Amino acid sequence: MIELRDVYKQLGTRQILAGLTLTVPKGMNFVLMGPSGSGKSVTLRHVIGIMKPDQGTVTVDGQNVPAMDRAQLMALRKRMGYLFQNGALINWLTVADNVALPLREHSRLPKSELDDRVHQALRVVKLDHAAAQFPPSISGGMKLRAGLARALVTNPEYVLYDEPNAGLDPIISHEIHELIIEVRNRLGVTGLIVTHSRACATQCGDRIGILENGKLAVTGTVDEMVHSDHPLARAFLGGGAD
Ligand SMILES: Nc1ncnc2c1ncn2[C@@H]1O[C@H](COP(=O)(O)OP(=O)(O)O)[C@@H](O)[C@H]1O
Ligand SMILES: [Mg+2]
Repeated sequence: MIELRDVYKQLGTRQILAGLTLTVPKGMNFVLMGPSGSGKSVTLRHVIGIMKPDQGTVTVDGQNVPAMDRAQLMALRKRMGYLFQNGALINWLTVADNVALPLREHSRLPKSELDDRVHQALRVVKLDHAAAQFPPSISGGMKLRAGLARALVTNPEYVLYDEPNAGLDPIISHEIHELIIEVRNRLGVTGLIVTHSRACATQCGDRIGILENGKLAVTGTVDEMVHSDHPLARAFLGGGAD
């Protein structure tokens, strides 16, 4: 379980998080929505311990993330994949070498086992045919799938998805949503998904929370949120939203 409780964070002169409380139970996809600049990515950075709260607590399975030392943070990041916007691949490494990066960082596996794990992750995202290609020569959807394979290669219990469909067309987005659902259902991974997309939120999510002024303004199950008359729920999830 991921739990943020009453988290405050100021960056520069701006109070970005101001009393944010958010719980992601095991096995669930929690969708975090909110206006641009509202602190969604900052929230994810707190969960993996890149940022520390000024006040409040951040725990993963009861462990206090901001108090972790380097070794504990490394162990946490092995259990927690992170899918960056646009996949964030390194252009001069092949798809397979990009996917292998977290394994090289976190473990000393024999080459044959490392290769097996990489190809297993690539198969999950249906990208094994592109293992030897370089990122500049593959499509946006393939980059994102490679980024997802990289997030999954350590067999994490959690994956944090930062805008997994930004810049993708609806058809490719739909493929990504199906993969995110499969990662939850088949691999049992717990997800925290940041997105602006109504389709992503309603297809992949179990619960949705909308961040505004540093805390969740409204939260509920997908069904509750789709039918909510809260103005933010209507803006992000109503009929006119995309
Ligand atoms: N490391 C940082 N230092 C200063 N300001 C930051 C930093 N990271 C993010 N911010 C600011 O915090 C606000 C929230 O950022 P972010 O979480 O990236 O928004 P979003 O909800 O769009 O993901 C933005 O105004 C951003 O400029
Ligand atoms: Mg962001």
